[in-house]
Amino acid sequence: MRITRSVRRLEAYTPGEQPASRRVVKLNTNENPYPPSPACAEVLRRFDLDRLRRYPDPVFSELRSALAAMCGTTPERIFVGNGSDEVLSVAAKTFVEDDEAIGSLDPSYSLYKTLAAIRDVKWVGVPPPADAADAPSLAPKLASRNVSLFLWTNPNAPTGAFAEPETVAAFAKAFPGVVIVDEAYADFAHTNCMRLATEATNRNVIVMRTFSKSYSLAGLRVGWCVGPADLIAAMYKVKDSYNVDAIAQAVALAAVRDQAWMRANVAKVVKTRTRFIHALESRGWDVIPSESNFVFAKPPAPAKAATIFEELRARNIFVRYFKGPKTGDRLRITIGTDRQMKALLAALDS
Ligand SMILES: Cc1ncc(COP(=O)(O)O)c(C=O)c1O
Repeated sequence: MRITRSVRRLEAYTPGEQPASRRVVKLNTNENPYPPSPACAEVLRRFDLDRLRRYPDPVFSELRSALAAMCGTTPERIFVGNGSDEVLSVAAKTFVEDDEAIGSLDPSYSLYKTLAAIRDVKWVGVPPPADAADAPSLAPKLASRNVSLFLWTNPNAPTGAFAEPETVAAFAKAFPGVVIVDEAYADFAHTNCMRLATEATNRNVIVMRTFSKSYSLAGLRVGWCVGPADLIAAMYKVKDSYNVDAIAQAVALAAVRDQAWMRANVAKVVKTRTRFIHALESRGWDVIPSESNFVFAKPPAPAKAATIFEELRARNIFVRYFKGPKTGDRLRITIGTDRQMKALLAALDS
């Protein structure tokens, strides 16, 4: 048996539970409660099985062109992965030497720490800066700890908090390494950082998106990113040859072409989010202002988040609880349909 030291020590990432039963109220993994575009269903119905005899397009030409057109850039600036988790994993192999480190906000998406551990490099967490004036001061702190890749989740997870693009830009300008702005939830926010990735002068900002949240396609496994052509070309050298299957490419393309469907679903989620935040606040909960499809909320004392998590689970209502000093007093609750949120509130009230 020969398992590497880093893997022996590795604390694996724990994904949210995926209960087999469909009869649960599932608000634990930030999935979209509404179905994907009917155009995706049509692609699946008409998909020619003979295409599966061959390998898929290794460079996702059609999907890449559609994504490039959508964000006003060229296909050479687009990379696609098997979910944005794979984009992150490729980035960790592409932009980090063995003696360098991966940085991120803290708290943030806990996979980042695991990615660093898999690469056997250090992870450095920093609190989110207050504003654009404060942001550049993070750069020397991170550089002094050899951070070459910084992952900035925006809106952040699990908090849902949003940093203005000016703040991210001010940091990226001061930081010598690569900055990936993880915009998994950006479609639910009032604006985003895409401009930072597409502008001609950009040398180190990559903006990453996913089909898992706003497009309702978490099961498809497609994520993508936009950045300077030299960084993107380097990522293509590292990825598996056929990392996105033919069905996923075709379905994702249909989803990109139906922006109206995605926008309508996002609007419904955002409306429910507003109502749900009011409902929680009227029950004495403290809710961090959220620009994503979830809220991070603290129950009124003496109630404990961990206890409520268990009580809800016993009633087949799944939310997310993250132990730890920065997160353990709150629950992360995905915004589902109005009906699902009502069921959750009724359980809290009883
Ligand atoms: C901040 C953040 N980034 C990336 C991902 C991964 O998304 P994907 O399904 O595209 O791998 C998630 C998933 O929950 C997330 O919360």
